[in-house]
Amino acid sequence: MNDAEIVEHTIAFVKETLKGAEGGHDWFHIQRVFKNTLLIAKEEKVDLLVVSLGALLHDIADAKFHDGDETVGPQLARTFLKELDIDKNTVQHVIKIIENISFKNTLTSRPDRPFDSKELQVVQDADRLDAMGAIGIARAFNYGGFKNRELYNPGIPPNLKMTKEEYKKSKAPTINHFYEKLLLLKDRMNTDTGKKLAETRHKYMLDFLEQFYKEWDPLSSGTA
Ligand code: ADP
Ligand code: NI
Repeated sequence: MNDAEIVEHTIAFVKETLKGAEGGHDWFHIQRVFKNTLLIAKEEKVDLLVVSLGALLHDIADAKFHDGDETVGPQLARTFLKELDIDKNTVQHVIKIIENISFKNTLTSRPDRPFDSKELQVVQDADRLDAMGAIGIARAFNYGGFKNRELYNPGIPPNLKMTKEEYKKSKAPTINHFYEKLLLLKDRMNTDTGKKLAETRHKYMLDFLEQFYKEWDPLSSGTA
């Protein structure tokens, strides 16, 4: 198989595997991350097959939906890739990307990255972009609905110090997620191209929040 065929084959596999997935993590999320990846890759010097496969396979089995088991995704990807006739280093690199892409691995608990490469940086930027802007807002409220969270509650302020366990129990409203994660992403982008793309999306989220608070309390703002 040539690279294009490998990518086509992987797309078919991912589509099939993600049938019935929750809206924020379905095939269309993967497709957007794949496109963001190709866009960033135009400007950055990376192995195109590695970033393509990394993007396509990065959420193949999210730990959140497998009792926090972070090994399911990489394992599934490895089994799939092994059946294709791909160079071992490529497979290894793609697995490393899947293992290290998640936000929590780089923001809070493990500031020292166990693995880094330009390819990981590009796919991570592409994934983060999809958590920002209009799409990011839609995904956050979709996730909040899935978890039966409130949209907003002025009595529950954002808490950046909560542990993962406390957070799960807290039923924090979705607006808090903006302060705990989404608005922090802009300054976490790895590549110059990613940074540039993140700016517009960041601004869009700030505008959204401003309008949201106006509409929440039209008497105090008077301009909703
Ligand atoms: P990804 O796997 O795409 O990097 P996550 O698995 O962390 O991202 O989250 C998937 C989507 O759900 C993202 O858009 C993220 O912002 C959103 N999300 C995750 N946790 C929450 C939460 N507690 N409240 C609202 N949205 C959330
Ligand atoms: Ni993702």
